[in-house]
Amino acid sequence: MHDMRFTLPGQDLNREPFALRSPDFQKKCEVMITDRGYKCRITNTVPISSQEKLFLLRIVDPVERQLFNFRPGQFLMLEVPGYGEVPISISSDNSNHEFIELCIRKAGHVTSAMFEARQGAIVSIRGPFGTAFPMEAMEGSNVLLVAGGLGIAPVRAPLYWISNHRDKYKNVYLLYGAKEPSQLLFSYQFEEWQKVSNVQLMTIVEKPDDSWKGRTGMITALFDEFSFDSKKTFAIVCGPPVMFKFVCNYLDGKGIPMNRMFVSLERRMHCGMGKCCRCMVGSTFTCLDGPVFDYWSVMNLKEAI
Ligand SMILES: Cc1cc2nc3c(=O)[nH]c(=O)nc-3n(C[C@H](O)[C@H](O)[C@H](O)COP(=O)(O)OP(=O)(O)OC[C@H]3O[C@@H](n4cnc5c(N)ncnc54)[C@H](O)[C@@H]3O)c2cc1C
Ligand code: FES
Repeated sequence: MHDMRFTLPGQDLNREPFALRSPDFQKKCEVMITDRGYKCRITNTVPISSQEKLFLLRIVDPVERQLFNFRPGQFLMLEVPGYGEVPISISSDNSNHEFIELCIRKAGHVTSAMFEARQGAIVSIRGPFGTAFPMEAMEGSNVLLVAGGLGIAPVRAPLYWISNHRDKYKNVYLLYGAKEPSQLLFSYQFEEWQKVSNVQLMTIVEKPDDSWKGRTGMITALFDEFSFDSKKTFAIVCGPPVMFKFVCNYLDGKGIPMNRMFVSLERRMHCGMGKCCRCMVGSTFTCLDGPVFDYWSVMNLKEAI
């Protein structure tokens, strides 16, 4: 039979497509994606800074409430009736079926409307969507959770997961940086994370105020304060894209393989499920192939960060 394969010197045009994600770890991460919609009641709103609020949502239908499940790193499309839909990371414990926690920054049209919503108001969610952090692949290793500013929102889900399966992970470090002390979110949970979850927490701010007694500088300064076996360490890095480069390149220099570092990419999204092409980076759908990517894949995605 005639072989349709052809090669050019130095190039094999029929080679496997350039792997956009590290198959090894992602395969182990079974992700549930569904376009189901759920009506939710806002049961509580907690202002956690001048710009961010934590919303506790409860799926109205008790059967759907028990069936809803997600994996750390996944996101929802949140609809504020009459205003529109926005993608928001799920910031809660996936073993808690009673409440879904969303930490939302007031950015524009839809998020501002959400900020006006009172306790008891009804909103809708669709999902969960996207890829997740491969928590099982990290078992038996050290885990670095690195968050910048609002990046702590997606980091809370893997943090809860680790707390629930604490004996499966070695040393867990949570490194959290913000511009100013008032932008360090969830400070009321810091003690719980350290004592109950046995996580070593380190915080740092770029611009201290008079009351700040902690560390000052860039988040990478925290890595000099402890040592870890880079060959047995995974990292989850969430925050502004500029932080990925600094943190991941630094960790690469320390010997953590790039396919053991995971970041969550944010793009404008519309459908959340690979139909509208709004979220595309090159030929990659951020909503389907991401938002969680290993850093090796991100490095190979032109204009991803
Ligand atoms: C996977 C994913 C997870 C997210 N998780 C969270 C979260 O947990 N908490 C949270 O507060 N926000 C999160 N976001 C960002 C959030 O979706 C946007 O802030 C929101 O869509 C803004 O909508 P809006 O109508 O309020 O603002 P708009 O009126 O649409 O825009 C206001 C401003 O926000 C910017 N903006 C809009 N959408 C995005 C976006 N997707 N990424 C970056 N900037 C944007 C616009 O450029 C503009 O400057 C996430 C985004 C993605 C893609
Ligand atoms: S958001 Fe529509 S294709 Fe990704």
